[in-house]
Amino acid sequence: MDIKKVVVIGAGTMGSGIAQWFTQQMCSVELVDNSQEQLLKSLQSIHLSWDKLLEKNKLSLEKITEMKRSLFIKSLDEVSKDADLVIEAIIENLDVKKDLFKKLDNHFSSQTILSSNTSSFPIELMATAVSSERKKRFVGLHFFNPATIMKLVEVIKAKDSDERLCQDLYQWFESNDKKPALCKDSPGFIVNRVARNFYGEPLRIVDSDDEFKMKEIDHILREVGGFKMGPFELMDLIGIDVNYSVTCSVWEAYKREPRFAPHALQKQMVEEKRFGRKVKRGFYKYD
Ligand code: NAI
Repeated sequence: MDIKKVVVIGAGTMGSGIAQWFTQQMCSVELVDNSQEQLLKSLQSIHLSWDKLLEKNKLSLEKITEMKRSLFIKSLDEVSKDADLVIEAIIENLDVKKDLFKKLDNHFSSQTILSSNTSSFPIELMATAVSSERKKRFVGLHFFNPATIMKLVEVIKAKDSDERLCQDLYQWFESNDKKPALCKDSPGFIVNRVARNFYGEPLRIVDSDDEFKMKEIDHILREVGGFKMGPFELMDLIGIDVNYSVTCSVWEAYKREPRFAPHALQKQMVEEKRFGRKVKRGFYKYD
């Protein structure tokens, strides 16, 4: 499999990181968002991150110049119809995603692979928006935050996804220094199912907006448990809104099993727009 031309839809936390990572693999990348402001912000922050790598001598000037020339921001109508791979990383809303996939199915060549970075929706449900031919070339590709650093990519085979295509994608990621995992199309796939309790139990222990207790739990899991980040720090990084919507959809998919239930504090924070690091206010403040 050769992936040279990639389109990433959604230039938020994940889309930006995914676009940056693919450009670093020397792919030509077109980044799309329905907010022009977000697109410019994303391009700027990717360039800034490369400039920092240059300062630290981690990448050469030639490579950075080449990468800057290979990353484009575009509107959906302008993107190349013959892309090898499209990755959708827009908001976690099933109807909005299905609407988008319908458009993508019409826009791209029959050979283009369509994929979703959804955290929780069944790939099969999104694939209902595309033609039966395209369903074979429709998969889940679930990256982790930050996508440039986290090695894991869950490659999700839906009911109609071509088995060989999933294996080829697995190998392509492996040869590009990621650690892929082939997953069933089940709620939360592997990580987001296991991780529900990493967030849910600490929320139930704290049970209130108590920063002192949160710090204590983060400290214990980080320093004693050996995790890179504590649960509250990680939820702030993921985005409280994103994490809440994943929690709700996994909980619904498992017929509201109590162990997956969202905590009232998550809902309250979403209502208060305390979305985490991206707005500088979540469980903690970031100034
Ligand atoms: P985000 O809220 O940071 O970014 C979403 C972007 O999509 C925004 O820039 C928004 O303007 C854009 N957008 C919304 N509707 C659009 C449309 N119809 N067409 C084009 N652009 C549109 O969200 P984030 O965190 O990047 O999440 C994106 C996806 O990745 C979600 O499905 C989420 O579940 C998944 N995900 C998130 C992770 C995280 O840690 N935040 C980790 C892995 C997956």
